[in-house]
Amino acid sequence: MKPEIYIKDLGNYVGKEVTLQGWLYNKRSSGKVKFLILRDGTGYLQCVVFKGNVSPEVFEISDKITQESSFAVTGKVKEEPRAPGGYELDAFDVKLISLSRDYPITPKEHGIEFLIDHRHLWVRSKKQVAILKVRHRIVKAIRDFFDERGFTLFDPPIITPNASEGTSTLFEMEYFDLGKAYLTQSGQLYAEAGALALGKVYTFGPTFRAEKSKTRRHLTEFWMVEPEMAFYDLDDDMDLAEEFIEYIVQTVLADRRAELEILGRDISKLEKIKRPFPRISYDEGVEILKKKGADFTWGDDFGGADETLISEDFEKPVMIHRYPAAVKAFYMKRDPENDKLALAVDVLAPEGYGEIIGGSQREDDLDVLLERIKEHNLPQEYFEWYLDLRRYGSVPHSGFGLGLERTVGWICGLEHVRETIPFPRMIYRNTP
Ligand code: 4AD
Ligand code: MG
Repeated sequence: MKPEIYIKDLGNYVGKEVTLQGWLYNKRSSGKVKFLILRDGTGYLQCVVFKGNVSPEVFEISDKITQESSFAVTGKVKEEPRAPGGYELDAFDVKLISLSRDYPITPKEHGIEFLIDHRHLWVRSKKQVAILKVRHRIVKAIRDFFDERGFTLFDPPIITPNASEGTSTLFEMEYFDLGKAYLTQSGQLYAEAGALALGKVYTFGPTFRAEKSKTRRHLTEFWMVEPEMAFYDLDDDMDLAEEFIEYIVQTVLADRRAELEILGRDISKLEKIKRPFPRISYDEGVEILKKKGADFTWGDDFGGADETLISEDFEKPVMIHRYPAAVKAFYMKRDPENDKLALAVDVLAPEGYGEIIGGSQREDDLDVLLERIKEHNLPQEYFEWYLDLRRYGSVPHSGFGLGLERTVGWICGLEHVRETIPFPRMIYRNTP
């Protein structure tokens, strides 16, 4: 039953007879010839059904077969430079597996709401298949990058008793007799325990934010990879982030160029993503905004529009460091040169894609961290385990989190993150 041959392997079968299985992507006819475009998840293949080469029944099936019907086709593989993929099939048998009736997504334009309502079918379309293949390659690049550099994968819990990034954006649940529990916003605090056990670790999994942000950059469920390294300061952290982003982009360029071309991505822009990346301070970021006439007060966090204004000046990701501590998380270490600043870094993608990385050096002093927990009105009893990391062999350490969907959106050149994940979750949508 299972296919012996997939479209991507046809190069090895030129002149041979093969049977392929899949779905009808599209169909054209011209008199005595039917052109069936088969898709099998690995590629697209034009199958030429010539009336003189097949039985009347097979020709009839080739005439009646509809978009997204499943079928098997047998024929001889031919080199055809003009065909997408470079090969064509001279078919002599077509077997219908299941006829698809009134497939809702037709080649005409559909509205975005209609498409997301049909996301379970929309993922079959050429552009969506290309995006999902790029996403997969990015996931593998992320794992390879850390695995090859001595990091250990360290899986944090999804159900947590407290917030790591601020209490306002938590998804809450009742947890048996123990009261409220929350879906994780970030694996970082746990990764810190891992770094003090294993030196260099990374977490990689889904995280949840009940943010009321209805923007093209926000999902309520998204994937984040979070490396955490003992004995790294902020500069070491930025060096790693820079090497990491270059690696991801250059790997996708090398391995998924065909998909990027399907997506119409301007590849020359991605070719420029090579180290070193520009590094500017928050203060310098504010200067850029002021020069451009933006209405911005020192001390605020950069919003999406501010990020776009700043990153416009650069062709590469820009690393902005040393933010006002007041707008950043409780665990960030203060700048010894200026107590109002946190040793934080955000990396903004070029072309207006906004923040893809947020990171920092962590506060490693027990007393200072205790004070921060009080200032932020966090319940100290829940953080006792986290404070233990400062009681027993505390060391300088740093890390960052990269949002997978924003990275996929940028590399694919998409308008909105909703197309970067198989089933997007947003404030106004949790189906299909
Ligand atoms: O800047 P954030 O909130 O950082 C953290 O969670 C830290 N604990 C990371 C760390 O230091 N280990 O989130 C990190 C990244 C953002 O830069 C962004 O790419 C992505 O996660 N992100 C989102 N992506 C999609 N939808 C959302 N609602 C997102 N919120 C954050
Ligand atoms: Mg952030």
